[in-house]
Amino acid sequence: MSEPNSSRYAASKELFERAQHVLAGGVSSEFRKFAHPHPLFFTRGAGARIEDVDGNEYLDFTLSQGPLILGHSPASVLEAVREASADGQIFAGQHLRELELAEKLVSLIPCAELLRMSLSGSECVHAALRLARAATGRPKFLRFEGHYHGWYDNVASGVAAADEAALGSRENPNLIPWTEGLPARVAEETLVLPWNDLALLEQTLSDRHEELAAVITEPVMCNSGCIPPKPGFLEGLRALCDQYGIVLIFDEVITGFRVGLGGAQARLGVTPDLAVFGKAMANGYPISALAGKRSLMDLLAQGRVIHAGTMNSGNPCVAAALATIAALEEPDVYPRIYRLGERLMQGLRQAAAAAGHEVLLQGLGPMFHLGFTSREQVSEFRETFAFDKPKYAAFSVGMQERGVRLIGRGLWYISAVHRDEDIDACLAAATEVFTDIPEQ
Ligand SMILES: Cc1ncc(COP(=O)(O)O)c(C=O)c1O
Repeated sequence: MSEPNSSRYAASKELFERAQHVLAGGVSSEFRKFAHPHPLFFTRGAGARIEDVDGNEYLDFTLSQGPLILGHSPASVLEAVREASADGQIFAGQHLRELELAEKLVSLIPCAELLRMSLSGSECVHAALRLARAATGRPKFLRFEGHYHGWYDNVASGVAAADEAALGSRENPNLIPWTEGLPARVAEETLVLPWNDLALLEQTLSDRHEELAAVITEPVMCNSGCIPPKPGFLEGLRALCDQYGIVLIFDEVITGFRVGLGGAQARLGVTPDLAVFGKAMANGYPISALAGKRSLMDLLAQGRVIHAGTMNSGNPCVAAALATIAALEEPDVYPRIYRLGERLMQGLRQAAAAAGHEVLLQGLGPMFHLGFTSREQVSEFRETFAFDKPKYAAFSVGMQERGVRLIGRGLWYISAVHRDEDIDACLAAATEVFTDIPEQ
């Protein structure tokens, strides 16, 4: 394969060296470290394209890890933010736009009887777990291997593993910390299981339900392989939570506003007790929402459970959410995103096969995963070790060199501003890269 051309990134390299003197690791989020050949510096994004300081332009399928469902800098969102900012930034008080956003979310999201707004997905996950503990009086929660729920202490175990063996037995998996610095109580209060295994879940909940306040899950396992739930899995999980009085939390930080206006819960027809939204809700402006059943959310109304935040629901972010949702309500938007995503998945399958590569593409269209593997299906985190990650890394570097920006771990996002010409250009680049990288 041709050597990546690192002089393409000379200006980024210089800025990255400078950044390391003032930003830890040169970045402000762990995930931004993993870029080729080092973190790049970007100057602007417009539509489906993003440009770096070296003047390289990329067709963007990272969409900033998901938020940019309308692409970079959509005019209607920018105008709404400009107008709202001119009215004031934040009031430490209520305002009409926030009320309108809450009413809109209640009308769209099946589980949303009441809401609270925050800034990030991580914060709302934290609030959801606190609510579940308060409501049930139980100390622990159950999460699934490889799901990502943000970086806070309570969910910073069970996210990653060096290899499949490190995970231990399926029935009693090892809870692997993702970071140093976690309090010991995290291990005491967290149960972890492989996902998509209803029989195992049934057994575990039957044995341990008295300890469990909540089960938290991504409804589609976007963060590891973009794995859909097996038929009946979410329905079974819902029924078990009902049976044992456990709060069911859907982490819709990726799926929310990406798979449809009502999130995965509307699309898949399973309603959780609580759900967390972020990312695509405001096309890149920092706002998130905790939505849930009145019986649980009332604990916030009563002040029995505390959720707060100086910066919550500021004018510009709320306006961005309202404008984003208004744009997503246009009838042709989701059908187009799905069609383009499915076309791209199919095209990538064909291009890989033509070059002799075995790949697996899984996902819904608006977001999907490409992995090099001979498996026909990957249905849980343990099976994701079958993906040839170095090969995907080589593929994504090759794509970057041809002006297509991808997330290095295999997840792809499509926006409402990608066009058929962009899919054509991406497939042309992929055809070259598949041919360029060795089959084994
Ligand atoms: C499913 C899921 N939940 C929670 C989070 C955390 O959200 P945030 O990065 O806004 O804190 C993420 C972020 O990637 C996510 O993918």
